[in-house]
Amino acid sequence: MSKIRLQNGEELPLEMHKVKIVQKLELKSVDQRLRAIEEAGNNTFLLKNRDVFLDMLTDSGVNAMSNLQQAAMLTADDCYAGSESFYRLEAELKKVFKKKYFLPAHQGRACEHLLSRVLVKEGDIIPMNYHFTTTKAHIRLRGGDILEIPVDEALKPESDCLFKGNIDIVKLKKAFEEFGKRIPFVRLEAGTNLIGGQPISIQNIKETHALCKKYGVPLMLDTSLLQDNLYFMKMREESCKDKAIIDICNEVAANVDIIYFSARKFGCAKGGGMCLDDDRIFEQLRELVPLFEGFLTYGGMSDKEMEAIAVGIREVSDFDVISQGPQFIKYMVEELRKEGVPVVTPPGGLGCHVDAKAFLSHLKDEDFQAASLSSALYIVSGIRGMERGTMAEERNPDGTECYAAIELLRLALPRRVFTMSQIKYAIDRITWLYKNRELVGGLRWKEEPRILRFFFGKLEPVDDWQKKLAEKFKKDFPYGF
Ligand code: F0G
Repeated sequence: MSKIRLQNGEELPLEMHKVKIVQKLELKSVDQRLRAIEEAGNNTFLLKNRDVFLDMLTDSGVNAMSNLQQAAMLTADDCYAGSESFYRLEAELKKVFKKKYFLPAHQGRACEHLLSRVLVKEGDIIPMNYHFTTTKAHIRLRGGDILEIPVDEALKPESDCLFKGNIDIVKLKKAFEEFGKRIPFVRLEAGTNLIGGQPISIQNIKETHALCKKYGVPLMLDTSLLQDNLYFMKMREESCKDKAIIDICNEVAANVDIIYFSARKFGCAKGGGMCLDDDRIFEQLRELVPLFEGFLTYGGMSDKEMEAIAVGIREVSDFDVISQGPQFIKYMVEELRKEGVPVVTPPGGLGCHVDAKAFLSHLKDEDFQAASLSSALYIVSGIRGMERGTMAEERNPDGTECYAAIELLRLALPRRVFTMSQIKYAIDRITWLYKNRELVGGLRWKEEPRILRFFFGKLEPVDDWQKKLAEKFKKDFPYGF
């Protein structure tokens, strides 16, 4: 991605790719959208994609593939055992991570499942910069718990801290002193998802690694969002600014012991895997892969996907490729800020994150601000975002509601998918909603699942605010779109 300046001084991220295949989209009317979100229980996961105009739910498995990825899929060596596609993927991973072993799995959470089975036992504590939903769920299923110790700036939606994804080294040291043998490993997440795709610095990874070594525990890195994080290391960290992306990637990997990833993000295809050097951990994981995922040379992935991931991972070394997402996100964040819309800053990776608590400051925690905002934005735009707040939490062990530290509406920008005019449309409708925010009311539980509530839980409006919002929209946009 190149950044260019127009004659009027405007800075524009410029796509360094062209569109070769397109999918038709439909923009339903506001009345149709109102019905659709009611049926979905105000949970954007439960919307049908046919009712969605711009799908900003996630960047998972929906990134645009390159022509070279598509071409590689045709070369897939389809077989149960010993596929060339596997060895090509393994070779590519060796180049970027330089670890002795690669074990495949069908997606990121499958890696978390297997790693938790091998490494987590009852009473264990896993310190981390921040959790991801499936990570926490798998650790808890094993009877362990997580200890989130990000730097203080991490949870401030607006900040000028360039590495909000860093772990607090002083708190980590204290955790080692307090919990000792109950800590089986430390987990870091590159491009920390739930706090707004915020990066971790290479310096912080190195310091964490040194501490882990001192206490004799492995350091695990979730590299699902490493692509964006590598961009930020190069742009924001002095020691990285003159280095090639592949060298930064190698340096990251050299400072961690266990790597796992969702290839639905890292590699822009669908799959996952784990890379490590430790013989003992490898042997234990190796027993589980065929049991839960598939044979060791596919792990639940299709050979075609393995080919696409291999090329996708190679393309991570291309600065034009990895800068597209962060630059589009930066544009969206900055334009929204100009209009006074509260957004997470600095702009991170993955997507644009709207601070729902500040946006809907007239609502209370129990109104599920982020869910209300995601429902309202869908009604007024057909854009599907994702609630990243209290719905994504689990209740406390005593049954009380666990209110999220930050309530975000995540508007993911899957890589190379949206055009600038679509981004401008999104900015326009979010801004309209902000001006009319007093019309947005709260939601309450209608159907509440026990775990991973955000996937299939249903909410209902506390009154008829959604109808009033739709009426105001129709008044301002009489053609109904
Ligand atoms: N780790 C991180 C940092 C993730 O963002 C995800 C998925 C996973 C692990 C799990 O990987 O989906 O392949 O099983 N994040 C998706 C999202 C679901 O929408 O943010 P998976």
